[in-house]
Formats: sequence, structure tokens, C-alpha cells
Amino acid sequence: MRILITGARGQLANELGRALESGRTEIGEVPAELSGAEVDLVDLDDFDVSDWAATSAWLAARAPYDLFVNCAAMTNVDGCETDEAAAFRANALGPLNLARASREQGAKLVHVSTDYVFPGSDPTPRTEDDVCAPISAYGRTKLAGEGLALANNPRTMVVRTAWLYGYVGRNFVKTMLRLADAHDHVTVVDDQLGNPTSAADVAHEVLRIAATEDFGTYHCTNEGTCSWADFAEAIMDAFGRDCEVRRCTSEEYKRMVPGSADRPRFSSLENARLERGLGNEMRPWREALASYACNYGELAG
Ligand SMILES: NC(=O)c1ccc[n+]([C@@H]2O[C@H](COP(=O)([O-])OP(=O)(O)OC[C@H]3O[C@@H](n4cnc5c(N)ncnc54)[C@H](OP(=O)(O)O)[C@@H]3O)[C@@H](O)[C@H]2O)c1
Repeated sequence: MRILITGARGQLANELGRALESGRTEIGEVPAELSGAEVDLVDLDDFDVSDWAATSAWLAARAPYDLFVNCAAMTNVDGCETDEAAAFRANALGPLNLARASREQGAKLVHVSTDYVFPGSDPTPRTEDDVCAPISAYGRTKLAGEGLALANNPRTMVVRTAWLYGYVGRNFVKTMLRLADAHDHVTVVDDQLGNPTSAADVAHEVLRIAATEDFGTYHCTNEGTCSWADFAEAIMDAFGRDCEVRRCTSEEYKRMVPGSADRPRFSSLENARLERGLGNEMRPWREALASYACNYGELAG
């Protein structure tokens, strides 16, 4: 079994690499089909996934792989808004190229996507069957990437996650901790709801999904819904920081940061397909955050 993971310097790829190396995640064992696999972790300095010539040249020297996991993406939501062409290259042409390459090798592709493919106008959690209608450049380009991946390799699983935080890389938890070290309060939006999600837990489910032959789209977030402000308060509690969280609306935030992209109001996902099939092993979000706070000193980078 040979596995290629893109986006190696990012949050999720790091958790996948750690899980495959140790044979377990924070919530269970790596599936037997994948344990002991030879794993190659690559990022932009190896090749640019949006460049077909570079991707196929790199693969020609190392193929074949049995499984591709695409964690490479332009994830800066505001950056995508100001340069949608660059976002399209990374988030749509990247998965297209990886789908073509993996199909040529008869390999499976797990492509990771986002809750931002939904408009966020409906207060009930979205399932895999709900209609997508993104309101941001990030969401539009990620939705295009999903379609291109599914259309170009029939052995594709798309795994949508949300509000991700890992030990390695940039995320909201680390931003809150940095702000708490410098200020006695932070101002955080209270009218956008979603599912804070541990990258370690997503890595667990991605590997379980990848070990099956059940292709198509999955939702995968930690259980429970809250606002960004609730999440910020939970972070201050979990890490013992004495920093007040002041709540604001999206309109107030937009006045403070005028160039920022619109975000979905109701961004919560339901792991409906996991529930119906493999079983949903994602933890409640507060439990996953407590575990993250516990391991942070040892693993954060
Ligand atoms: N972060 C979230 O809150 C979140 C929420 C929902 C879904 N997701 C999805 O989950 C997946 C993993 O996210 P993450 O937070 O782990 O990402 P991340 O930490 O931002 O890492 C992504 C990695 O991909 C690299 N990359 C960007 N463009 C590339 C290209 N054209 N070719 C090769 N590598 C490229 C980045 O390099 P540079 O840093 O140098 O650009 C970075 O190392 C992504 O598909 C993302 O859309 C993330």
C-alpha cells in the first residue's frame, strides 16, 4: 500500500501523517488495510498540484500509488476573495489534476472540501444531499474542485469538513491564544454558527473512509454547533486564559475588516452518510478541544 498526501505542511496532512506513522489517532486505530503503508507527504516545494506538467512529471518518477489524499488548498478565505483566479487554480485545477493522475494509476482519491460550499441560509445542519450554493470565492472554487474530482476519477471520496484546527499550521484556536497573550479582550462574531473540528478526528475518519470502496461525498465534523464567539470562550477556558470574549455581529465585524469575504451564517454539517454507513466516530466538539488543549504543549508546531 502506497499513499500520497498533498498539502503536507498544512493542518490535516500533518495529522494524517502522524496517524499513519503511529498506527492510531486520538480516537482509534488506523484501519488494517492502511497500517504499515508507505506514505509520501508533499507540498508546494515538491510540485504545484494546479500544474499538470509538474504533477505528472513528479508522479512519473514515483508512481504508482494506491491512494491519493488531497489536503492541498488555498484556505485563506479572504485571500481567495481578492484573487479568485489563484484560488481556482489551487482549489479546482489541483483536484482535477490529482483525479486524472490517480485514475491513470487505478488509485482512489480522497479529496477534502468544506462547509463553505453551502450558502448558510438554512438553520438546520446540512447533509450530503443538500443543494450547494456558495457565497464566497473560496466556496465557489472548492465546489468546482469537488465536481472536477468526482467527474475525473470514479474512485473518489469527497470529505467535507469545517472550522478545522490542527496542532501544526494556522487556525482560529492559535489566533485566539495569540490575541489572549496580548490583550485582555477579543471581539468575535456571534451570529455565524458551525462545528469546530479537530484535524486529528478528521484524519481518523478520512482513513476509515479511504479504506472502503464507498465512493462519493461525506460530511465529517465534530458533533455540536456553536458560534465563533462560543468557540472562542471555550478556547479561553480550555487553555486557562483570562481574556474576555466580546460578541459582535457579522455586520459589525465587516465594518472593522471591510475587505473580508462573506461567510455562511449557518454552517453546521450533519455527518449523515457516516451515520448511515461506517458509523460516525466524531467526538463532541468540546471533548475534542479538551484533548487538543491537553496535547498542545507536546504537539503544537
Ligand atoms: N482550515 C479550515 O478551517 C478548513 C475548513 C474546511 C475545510 N478545509 C479543507 O481541508 C483541507 C485541509 O485544510 P488545512 O487547514 O489542513 O490546509 P492548510 O493548513 O492551509 O494547508 C494547505 C497546504 O496546501 C499547500 N498548497 C496550497 N496550494 C497548493 C498547490 N497549488 N500545490 C500544492 N500545495 C499547495 C499550502 O501551502 P502554502 O501554505 O504555502 O500555500 C499548505 O501547505 C483543505 O482542502 C481545506 O479546503 C479546511
